Amino acid sequence: MEPGAPDGGKQGTSSSSRLPVTVHTTAAAACGAIASEVAELVQAQPAAALGLATGSTMVGVYAALLRVAAERDVSLSQVRTFNLDEYLGLPPESPASFRAFMEAHLFEAAGLSGEQVAFPVSPYADANGSSARSARAFEAAIEGAGGVELQLLGLGGNGHIAFNEPGSRFDSRTREVELAPRTRADAAASFGSLEAVPRRAVTMGVGTILEARRIRIVALGEHKAEIVARLVAGAAGDEVPASFLAGHADVQLHVDAAAASRLSAG
Ligand code: GLP
Repeated sequence: MEPGAPDGGKQGTSSSSRLPVTVHTTAAAACGAIASEVAELVQAQPAAALGLATGSTMVGVYAALLRVAAERDVSLSQVRTFNLDEYLGLPPESPASFRAFMEAHLFEAAGLSGEQVAFPVSPYADANGSSARSARAFEAAIEGAGGVELQLLGLGGNGHIAFNEPGSRFDSRTREVELAPRTRADAAASFGSLEAVPRRAVTMGVGTILEARRIRIVALGEHKAEIVARLVAGAAGDEVPASFLAGHADVQLHVDAAAASRLSAG
C-alpha cells in the first residue's frame, strides 16, 4: 500500500505498512486536523484526560486547538492533562522547561492550572533519586483519571517518542532517562547552548503511552522526512521507539508534505 498523497488540505489516509499515515499539504492543515479531533473529543467529554506533548511541532497544534475551540464554543477548562516528559535539574524559573512551554502555548489561554495539569516530575527536581517517587505518582494519577483518552506525540529526529530514546523497551514505564546526544543537540537552540541542555529527564514510558485509547503523532517539515520514511517503511524494534506505536489499535501519524517527501510511492 502507498502512503496517502497530499491532496490540497483534505486528508489522504491509508494504512501504509504498519503505521496509518495521513499526509496533509501544509503544516497548518495537519495542525488543524488534530485540533479538530481534540476539540470534538472535549466537546463530547469536557473532563477528558489528554496526554500532551511539547516541542516546536506542538506550537502550531496548540494554536490551532485554541482557535478551533473558540470557534466551536468548546471550553477546554475542565480537561485533565498529562504531559509526556520534563527535564531534570532545571531551576524553577527556567523558561526552557516543558511546564513553561505548556503555560505559554496552552494552559494560560485555556484556563488550566493546579491539579488539572500533571507532569512526570517537577522542573526543579534534581537527579538525586526523587524522580522514582514522582514517576510512580504520575502513573497513579493517570490511572486515577481513568487513563488517557487521546495522547498527542511529536517525533524526535532519532525516532524517539517523549524522551524514550533508541533502546527503550516497548513495555517501559515512566522513569528517569539519559538524553541521547542528538536529542540534546536538537534542544540546544531552546537553551542557548548545548552545555545548558540538561542531560537527564523523566519521561512517560512507551508502555504507558501505549495505554492511551487514541494516539495521534505529528511530524512536520523536511527535517523529519527521513525518520518518517523509516517509520512508515516499517522500521521495527527499539532502535526506532516510535515503531512500537504501530501495534496500537487507534494510532494515526499526521505529516505535512515536507515530512512526507521521502515516502516511496509504492
Ligand atoms: C522533544 C520532546 C518530544 C518531541 C520532540 C520533537 O524531544 N521530548 O516529545 O516529540 O522534542 O520536537 P519538535 O516538535 O521540536 O521537533
